[in-house]
Amino acid sequence: MRLDRFICESTELTRSLAKKAMHRGEVSVDGEVIKNAATQVNEHHRVTFQGEPLMLVGLRYVILHKPAGVECTTRRTLYPRAIDLIDLPMLERLQTVGRLDVDTTGLVLLSDDGQWSHRVTSPKRRCGKVYRVTLAEPLEGDALDAAVRDFAEGVLLEGEEKPTRPAELAMREPRVAELVLYEGKYHQVKRMFAAIGHHVEALHREAIGPLALGELAEGEWRELSAEEVAAF
Ligand code: URA
Repeated sequence: MRLDRFICESTELTRSLAKKAMHRGEVSVDGEVIKNAATQVNEHHRVTFQGEPLMLVGLRYVILHKPAGVECTTRRTLYPRAIDLIDLPMLERLQTVGRLDVDTTGLVLLSDDGQWSHRVTSPKRRCGKVYRVTLAEPLEGDALDAAVRDFAEGVLLEGEEKPTRPAELAMREPRVAELVLYEGKYHQVKRMFAAIGHHVEALHREAIGPLALGELAEGEWRELSAEEVAAF
């Protein structure tokens, strides 16, 4: 990108102030003072302003309301990727914090801060993920009591060595459950219901820890506030 744009994106300077700073000799690229605003630079160049190195982007924290048909991956696949819905520079640096299946809708977090992502996903932090689960058949009576107990005690899923961690199940309607998980195994919700003989027709994540989707419409995203980031 042009050097004046690089400066605008990494400081609070407007383009005209960036150009003035360059004319004053305050901007260097790889140790050489550069006055031509059109000089091309990228993240591999060491750009300094008044002797201070400039970083193109800081750490970003994003909440997305994922629609169905969108994949939580950085690889290019047949499906659009979650990052393709987001309009920020250096998108390839953003990683989803955990994953939702391609047909699951709801709250996805993305960040380029690996430590923060780890805090959110680590089961030790007990950051509850709230799912609305629509079942093919009603779950009621004794079967429901048994499911609540099994999920609270942990279910041994096919192919796993350890049972799931304690999870909280409640029914909102005969076919609509709320399930709170504190971990994120592959297809965990669908496999847990399969283990008790139920098929999940639709799955939606409403919240992660202190953060809920709120008014964010399907397909929309926004950056988290500093308070929201710190709340995890
Ligand atoms: N569990 C699932 O089965 N799918 C998801 O997308 C998330 C949790």
